[in-house]
Amino acid sequence: MTVHHAVTDAPRAPVPSTATDEVVVLDYGGQYSQLIARRVRELGVFSELLPHHVGAEEVRRRAPKGLILSGGPASVYADGAPRLDPQLLELGIPVLGICYGMQLLVRELGGRVEGAEVGEFGRSELTVQEPGRLLAGLPREQTCWMSHRDTVYSAPPGFTALASSTASPVAAVESVERGVYGIQFHPEVVHTPYGQTILQRFLEDVCVCERTWSPASVVEDQVARIREQVGSGHVICGLSGGVDSSVAALLVHRAVGDQLTCIFVDHGFMRKNEGEQVIAAFRDHFKVPLVAVDAGERFLNRLAGVTDPEAKRKAIGAEFIRVFEEEARRVGDAHYLVQGTLYSDVIESGGGTGAATIKSHHNVGGLPDDLQFDLVEPLRSLFKDEVRAVGAELGLPERLVWRQPFPGPGLAIRIVGGEATRERLNVLREADAILQDEIRKAGLYRELWQSFCVLPDIRTVGVQGDERTYGHVVVIRAVTSDDAMTADWARLPYDLLEQIASRMIGEIREVNRVVLDITSKPPGTIEWE
Ligand code: XMP
Repeated sequence: MTVHHAVTDAPRAPVPSTATDEVVVLDYGGQYSQLIARRVRELGVFSELLPHHVGAEEVRRRAPKGLILSGGPASVYADGAPRLDPQLLELGIPVLGICYGMQLLVRELGGRVEGAEVGEFGRSELTVQEPGRLLAGLPREQTCWMSHRDTVYSAPPGFTALASSTASPVAAVESVERGVYGIQFHPEVVHTPYGQTILQRFLEDVCVCERTWSPASVVEDQVARIREQVGSGHVICGLSGGVDSSVAALLVHRAVGDQLTCIFVDHGFMRKNEGEQVIAAFRDHFKVPLVAVDAGERFLNRLAGVTDPEAKRKAIGAEFIRVFEEEARRVGDAHYLVQGTLYSDVIESGGGTGAATIKSHHNVGGLPDDLQFDLVEPLRSLFKDEVRAVGAELGLPERLVWRQPFPGPGLAIRIVGGEATRERLNVLREADAILQDEIRKAGLYRELWQSFCVLPDIRTVGVQGDERTYGHVVVIRAVTSDDAMTADWARLPYDLLEQIASRMIGEIREVNRVVLDITSKPPGTIEWE
């Protein structure tokens, strides 16, 4: 296994209120560690992922009902391999080791773990010899997903070996008295069909957790926290139209009502009707105090003559901050600023130091760190799909809940190789509206990570109605992805592509050619600038 994300000492998500049971997942660097926490949450138990080295005291402070040790890429025998802090076994809570986590437990408690000649990677057949507590009621033969080289050959004294697999003499162990359980396979991945049942067994029967964590409980919990943090203070929130800032704003509004003022800076680079939709949802429907700034003219002036992608991004970023600050000052005595930081940002912050700047990215359209506000971050403990669930719980319209990601600088960075002028923006906006319409009608909108148009600053010759035309080229870009780190170009049906192209050319006078981008990431990036 390889390490896919850096776990650091970055500030962690807040400990939830004591009303919710929690299970802590200690991360030993496994590829699926985040997924374990997500699966536990899907089962209705709050779960946090902490770096393996946080120490037993930090775990104790959270008073979890159980502890899960994740997989990891190391061999327990390697120099510098993460160790098991024996104090973790003295906390008086059940422990479940998965893969490397199991090997750590077995080795610490006197069982035999050795490097095997042949590793076991992918699907494997598990045979249950002694169901014990953890595997009770499950089929004797089942498929599971393995990814390991070191192998457990014998369970520690006092433990029962529950199962074996093709290449693992001991693939599951338990000691009910000690409250220690281990499985060599990965219950968190879909390729282990009984994985979720096993996790549920651990949570319910072993840890005796109450499964009360849900989008509704998150709302209740966050509302209480926000009230406690903010008191009678004033709060401002920058709305972008994206799901994160929308959900964060609604949570804060639910908590403190009109003490919140939202600021929506329309830079003029939004999609067709998007600005109106944000205003309709927040001001008209949710009755959230909203300052909507139509700054399109200002941004266009600022971008006059700017063609270099980085210069464009920086200009938009700087102007955005200026407009936002002006408006925030006008709101008056706000002490608090809402930020839509997600749990994945919290986990991953601190990773990637020394990485090359590919694009001056994700803070474009964001705000600098040195604003004089205390931050309110109600999504800090949530994964993206949970944010959507909370949004739905709060009544956010489906269009906003399921909105595809949209870059802060908006359409301006999709006019490539040239200046973002009003005319070009209009052409791009119309083309984009047709694409969205057709993608939605085809039922593909949610399946795609993103679907959008790019307008390169070139013209091509065409012939329409016996006349020579010299028009714009629209590029269709549609990708599938899990996290935008990598992406694959989407294989849109030919008939759909034809329908999109003929509508664009028929309905937009300036367009006479449509092409499809078939580049994955890497080597391409998702956006063109
Ligand atoms: P790239 O083009 O680097 O984009 O493959 C990865 C993801 O990030 C989005 N993106 C941005 N998001 N501000 C944002 O909030 C930005 O400046 C920005 N630039 C790119 C992009 O749409 C894709 O989802």
